[in-house]
Amino acid sequence: MSETRVAAVVLAAGKGTRMKSDLPKVLHPVAGRPMIRHVLAMLDDVAPDRTVVVVAPGMDSVVSAVAPARVAVQQDQQGTAHAVLAARSAFEGFSGDVVIVNGDTPLLTAEIVETMLRARRGRQPPAVVALGFRPRDPAEYGRLRIGEDGGLDAIVEYRDASPEEKAGTLCNAGVMVVDGGVLFGLLDTVGTRNAKGEYYLTDIVAIARSRGLRCAVVETPDATEAMGVDSRAGLARAEEVMQDRLRRRAMEAGVTLTAPETVWLAADTEIGRDVTIGPNVVIGPGTRISDGAAIRAFSHIEGADLGPGTVVGPFARLRPGTRLRRGARVGNFVEVKAAVLGENVRVGHLSYVGDAEIGDGANIGAGTITCNYDGISKHFTRIGAGAFIGSNSALVAPVTVGDDAIVGAGSVVTSEVGRGAISIARGRQRNLDGQADAFRRRRKAESDTGDG
Ligand code: UD1
Ligand code: MG
Repeated sequence: MSETRVAAVVLAAGKGTRMKSDLPKVLHPVAGRPMIRHVLAMLDDVAPDRTVVVVAPGMDSVVSAVAPARVAVQQDQQGTAHAVLAARSAFEGFSGDVVIVNGDTPLLTAEIVETMLRARRGRQPPAVVALGFRPRDPAEYGRLRIGEDGGLDAIVEYRDASPEEKAGTLCNAGVMVVDGGVLFGLLDTVGTRNAKGEYYLTDIVAIARSRGLRCAVVETPDATEAMGVDSRAGLARAEEVMQDRLRRRAMEAGVTLTAPETVWLAADTEIGRDVTIGPNVVIGPGTRISDGAAIRAFSHIEGADLGPGTVVGPFARLRPGTRLRRGARVGNFVEVKAAVLGENVRVGHLSYVGDAEIGDGANIGAGTITCNYDGISKHFTRIGAGAFIGSNSALVAPVTVGDDAIVGAGSVVTSEVGRGAISIARGRQRNLDGQADAFRRRRKAESDTGDG
């Protein structure tokens, strides 16, 4: 690619009315990541010299979600052209290519934007390159009007389109690459004489044509990448497409997905080679799974780091801050939160391990609970390497069990267990030999006389 400089503007100030949400539209997550972060990640690959995100006043959550990207504030939401104008001061003296992207198109790939940038190279490049796509349902997307020379003549918004234009199937994806030398001059001419009474960015095409400038369309062969999310149904559809992509990518990288369509991944999930993921596994943001790990069916994992050869599930829940070192195993109906499990640790069944550190090789019996919360604050449990915690024990934090110690089943451990010690912290067993029959006779007599 030649040396022309590239800058990007991402439009995110819209109200997102159709989402019917208190959350700004571009923060709605797809694969666990706000839509706008998908757009910015895509732009990272395009590597513009500068990126400006246009937000509305008070959209502090968007500003922090896009940091460290530069932000411009569009005072009131008068349309997409008006939004780009809000970023004007960031483009003083810039005459390279400006990529303008809607913040609600999370599926776009850098490849297609690079194809658009290439269309602006060459000897007589078009002033404006728009991205076209042919969705299965063109719905209310703007329609591209192609001229006799095959160039782009205009973009007509759905509400302003004639019936013939509405019948067109080539739609506007909401991405443009514009010659930075003419962009703001074009925008200054955009008016509001249209169905919505807004300044439409899409109008710059007809304006450029009226000035004798050429405009062009790059059509993406993959219509799904161009979809804009304007509703909850659109959000669900984007999720579906993104999941399909993430699953494919995982399989291509050497991951076995037994039933791919039932596995949910996050955009930032890192998975090594020869990992096996069973059916109905949900992986939320912030998870890394190392080589050779196995996640069995119906597990829910979020913010966890799984070492090589670890085994999780079936029916396990790993919450943020879980770290399993090499070979550790977490079995069915076990929940782990903010805890480090050392190498080859086993927590096989029905346990809760939270705010804890467990040394290498320790064995945590069925039903063990780290009682980390006293109703006011959280406390830490430390279990030494090689320790054995008997079934159905409650470890009342803050508490430490030393290396190689043994805790008897059913114990309620409230104070430190030293290294190598055996702790039995439960009621002592008392057997009354032969007393069962006598007990029953006594109870029967009592009930016959109506007592008790
Ligand atoms: C827009 C296009 C339409 C295209 C579609 C593709 C226009 C006029 N229409 O319609 O041709 O088919 O995207 O998905 O551009 N925004 C602002 N400030 C505003 C208004 C909007 O920043 O004043 C932002 C929104 O946050 C959003 C983006 O611009 O990220 C697009 O706005 P949206 O309302 O979603 O436009 P569409 O109706 O989808
Ligand atoms: Mg939209």
